[in-house]
Amino acid sequence: MIRKNQSPHFFSDACFLSFPGFLEKKLQACEEESFKPRKNGKHLVLGKKPGPDALILQSNDYLDIGNHPDIVEAEIDVLENFGQVPVMSAVFLHDGGTKDAFEKSMASWTGFENAILCQSGWAANVGLIQVIAGRDVPVYIDFFTHMSLWEGIKSSGATAHAFMHNNPAHLEKLIKQYGQGVVLLDSVYSTIGDIAPLHDVVEIANRHDCVMVVDESHSLGTHGHEGAGLVFEHGLTSRVHFVTASLAKAFAGRAGIIFCNAKFAKYYPYLAHPAIFSSGLMPHEIAGLSATLNIIKKCDDRRGRLNELSAYTRRRLGELGYAVDSESQIVALEPGSEVNTEALRDALEARNIFGSIFCSPATPKNRALIRFSLHSSLKQEEIDYLLQVCEEIRDEVNMWEWKSTKRGAGKDGGVKL
Ligand SMILES: Cc1ncc(COP(=O)(O)O)c(C=O)c1O
Repeated sequence: MIRKNQSPHFFSDACFLSFPGFLEKKLQACEEESFKPRKNGKHLVLGKKPGPDALILQSNDYLDIGNHPDIVEAEIDVLENFGQVPVMSAVFLHDGGTKDAFEKSMASWTGFENAILCQSGWAANVGLIQVIAGRDVPVYIDFFTHMSLWEGIKSSGATAHAFMHNNPAHLEKLIKQYGQGVVLLDSVYSTIGDIAPLHDVVEIANRHDCVMVVDESHSLGTHGHEGAGLVFEHGLTSRVHFVTASLAKAFAGRAGIIFCNAKFAKYYPYLAHPAIFSSGLMPHEIAGLSATLNIIKKCDDRRGRLNELSAYTRRRLGELGYAVDSESQIVALEPGSEVNTEALRDALEARNIFGSIFCSPATPKNRALIRFSLHSSLKQEEIDYLLQVCEEIRDEVNMWEWKSTKRGAGKDGGVKL
């Protein structure tokens, strides 16, 4: 409502409408639940702002190539010389342009017949599942799988049958119960960094003639020969229908991709709502991504270093008593309750270390955690400092009493986090 005696034509407080009760209630509930309990009056995910000398382990630029001069140069070149910029849905683009060329080079890199460039990993997953599933198609999804795939199921109107985390036997039991459908999982899980049993799941999906989808957001670029990912590395390309990925991780950009066959690529742009009703990427972004692909292929030394330092960090944290389920560059400490997670965050930040907090809705309640995203340029002294701090704060943050510590690593019994 516009307040009395106030003109709606001036930009002042007076212009703002108040919300009806149902919306006020929702916002108030967020205030009570997520802001008020915190010492700093902010949401749990926001602690101190890191200073210039902080050890920041939040970015998913795993190979530390975001500022690579080749990427910057490629983008600038297009911005300065491209001419008219197509500001519109990519559905109107003809073949033979930069998008088409990038898709072809991505496909040949991973061994797929085709690839579809999307505006984000979120758009790729929502669009794909909206197209391939439907009311009469059961969708089998690992409990831990990224929210964008769950959102895709919602938008397709399909029924989700969640199987216990990394538990192929449970998946098969559900398929036998509900029939042929779509199987979804992440190759590397984005909160705790463990890896899916790809061979076993693909075997089951193939045996029951299901459509197989793997989200490789956290393995494309970091795993496999030339960074082509885990599906490629395991020789499963011909047994998986679709691989999706966010290009906002190792690709350090803002886009997503779907790897698929040529037939699907032909029809997808006219079926997927994110492809039809949302504008495509800008030419300079695509040029940046093409340059990134060339860099990533040549990053075997960085991948090797990332792999080594991640294994070292995981092993040492385990020796310190932390329950670390990770098998990748994503390493998480799981205090569980929000209060314990806030204490851990504060203890780390007091020592100038910054990870990312994951709490509800990214994890179930009381399974909050702090994720460290490691990258290949971390120096040994930085890793050792992180480990020294983690050792020093164990009593202060009550680590010995965390449920995850008592449970131990890898002993979740397939229960949803
Ligand atoms: C596994 C996974 N899939 C998809 C996405 C969505 O990607 P984007 O940030 O490009 O929308 C993310 C990002 O957090 C992710 O971790």
